[in-house]
Order: sequence, then structure tokens, then C-alpha cells
Amino acid sequence: MKQVKLGKQGLTVPAIGLGCMGMSISYGTPDDAESIATMHRALDLGCNLLVTSDAYGNGVNEELVAKAIAGRRRDYLVCTKFGNLMGGGGVNGRPEYAVEACEKSLKRLGVDEIDIYGLHRVDPAVPIEETVGAMARLQEQGKVRYLVISEAGPETLRRAMTAATIDVCETEYSLWSRDAETGGLLAACRELGVGYMAYAPLGRGFLSAKIKSLDDLIEKDRRRQHPRYLPENIEKNVALLAPIERIAAAHGATPAQVAIAWVMAQGDFIVPIPGTKRRTYLEENLGAANVTLSAAEVAELAEVFKPGAAAGTRYPDAQLKGVMV
Ligand SMILES: NC(=O)c1ccc[n+]([C@@H]2O[C@H](COP(=O)([O-])OP(=O)(O)OC[C@H]3O[C@@H](n4cnc5c(N)ncnc54)[C@H](OP(=O)(O)O)[C@@H]3O)[C@@H](O)[C@H]2O)c1
Repeated sequence: MKQVKLGKQGLTVPAIGLGCMGMSISYGTPDDAESIATMHRALDLGCNLLVTSDAYGNGVNEELVAKAIAGRRRDYLVCTKFGNLMGGGGVNGRPEYAVEACEKSLKRLGVDEIDIYGLHRVDPAVPIEETVGAMARLQEQGKVRYLVISEAGPETLRRAMTAATIDVCETEYSLWSRDAETGGLLAACRELGVGYMAYAPLGRGFLSAKIKSLDDLIEKDRRRQHPRYLPENIEKNVALLAPIERIAAAHGATPAQVAIAWVMAQGDFIVPIPGTKRRTYLEENLGAANVTLSAAEVAELAEVFKPGAAAGTRYPDAQLKGVMV
């Protein structure tokens, strides 16, 4: 797997990472054994970047990652985050909370240093300089190696960079979620030399073209609450998939691979982190590294999915308030 340099402090990651959230929460039914096998298979295929957060199941996902990396810790790069309190608990970016959360994540992960650590959601009640200042102190103390912030807007990123060297922004980005592009975050990352991890590059599975109706999702699947999957929107959104399917067929590839390849084509500082709990999907997704879209295909897909083309927002209203802050 090709390696990509992110940020200015030497962080080097595979061109495609593995998102671990859905192994524990949100999508379908968890299967810990298959999830661990998926994390092991990722390493075999050269994808050693695992992305989690203390928020995913209140630490449950970090504990699962700990089981997968046990005995091979040095082979993996683990990214985890703090500050997004689940169960309607809001956000917490206070410096003392960063210290407390980091200690807990170190323990749950069973490591003495976290490779990539940072803020999951910006806390509007705490100046960002104070939050990332605390992250920088954790870095000085050797508890974390590189710094991430998630769903920060470009101005917040600029302020953060005055108090710490942020290596990577982790924010949603896919064909149908283009806020990072339209809101100037990608341009700010490019200008400031900050890397970018694109989360939900498959639109939470939708862009794989394997979900065409709500019947494809189990009753408690969180996507049923996501606006783009609501009954009034999903049919309109399914109609957007045809060009991805056509371009995929032309490449002998799958729609999921085309969706990931499109994200990769947006810049050499952008690393998609598709999530899956299955080895089959993992292998398919990593195969996107071998799919090179033409400039015309990249432009056609950008146009079909231009901002506003998808019906529904990328998060329900309550969560939308906390992104790109
Ligand atoms: N920083 C943040 O606020 C934030 C928010 C959301 C996510 N993330 C991170 O980003 C990662 C990726 O995002 P995501 O998981 O939300 O969305 P995603 O990567 O767009 O999609 C994941 C979903 O797509 C399915 N899938 C994966 N590969 C597939 C394939 N080849 N064909 C068909 N379906 C496929 C998965 O199914 P299975 O589950 O059945 O394998 C899962 O339901 C997460 O795991 C998490 O680490 C970060």
C-alpha cells in the first residue's frame, strides 16, 4: 500500500485507513471476531491505520482495537479522540478533560503512547487554543505522537495552529458530503500543511450502491435517523448512483472503490478511512488504491453529486450544529 505523509511532523500513513466505529456502534450488528480478523487482515494488506474514538460505545470500540493490536502494537498506527460525549452529553474540550480522557484511552488501548490523538468535536465554550494547548502538552510528555482535530472549521484550524502543530484534520468528506470543500477546510489544510483524513467516504455505505432501500438496514441501524436515508429522501438519492455504477463497470471496479478513488483524487494530503467490520469489504475498499479515475470521470462525478444534489443533510439537525465549528 502506498504511504502518504500527513502534516509537518513526519506522520506517515497508508493511502487508505480503516475506520473502526461501525465495528461497535451505529451500523448493523457487531461481530467482534470478524472485526478483529478485519483489523488483522488490514495489516496483512499494508493498511496499519486504525481510527477509533473514546466515544464509540463509551470506550467499547477502543477495547476492541486493543484486542486486535495486542502483541503487534508497534505494527499499527492507532488514532483516537476525546471530547464527544455520547448519550446527549455534549462536548468537552477543557484542558483538564483532555488529560483525563487521554489517560483513560491509553489504558483501554493497552498502550503507553497513542499514535494520533485529538479532539473529536470542537467545544464552543472553550477557546480552541486552550484545548489544543493541552494536546500539545500530552505530546511533549510522550503520551501522544501526532495531533488530530475533527470537524473543525477552517478558522478554528487556523487558530489551533497558533497553539499546536496539528498534523491532521479528520472530517467527513465524500462525493455527497462536500462541506470541507465548499467551506474552505480542504484549502486551509493545503495552505497550512495539515493532512486530512476523510471519514465516511462511502456516505455511510450508501455510495457502495449496495443499500437501495431502508429494508437493507436492520431496525436499530443508526442510518435510519440520518436525513439522507429517510424514506422521503432515499429514493431520490438512489437515483444519483447510476454514474458511479457505470464508471465502476468501465474500470472493472465496484462503486465503493470508485467513491473512495474519487476522494483520493482530490489531493495527495487526503486519506480516506472507510469503515467496515468485514474482511470482504475491507479487501474491496483497499482495492480502490488501484483504481485511477480520469480527470473527466472525477469531474463528472463531482457534478452529479454537486453540493445540494443529495436529498437531506449529512447529519440530523442536532448533530449538524456540532460540525465544521
Ligand atoms: N470524526 C468523526 O466525527 C467521525 C464520524 C463518523 C465516522 N468517523 C470515522 O470514519 C470511519 C468511516 O466512516 P463510517 O464508517 O461512518 O462511514 P463509511 O466508511 O462511509 O461507511 C461505512 C459503512 O459502509 C459499509 N461498507 C464499507 N465498505 C463497504 C463496501 N465495500 N460495500 C458495501 N458496504 C460497505 C460498512 O458496512 P459494515 O459495517 O457492515 O462493514 C458500514 O456500514 C468510521 O469508522 C470512524 O472511524 C469519524
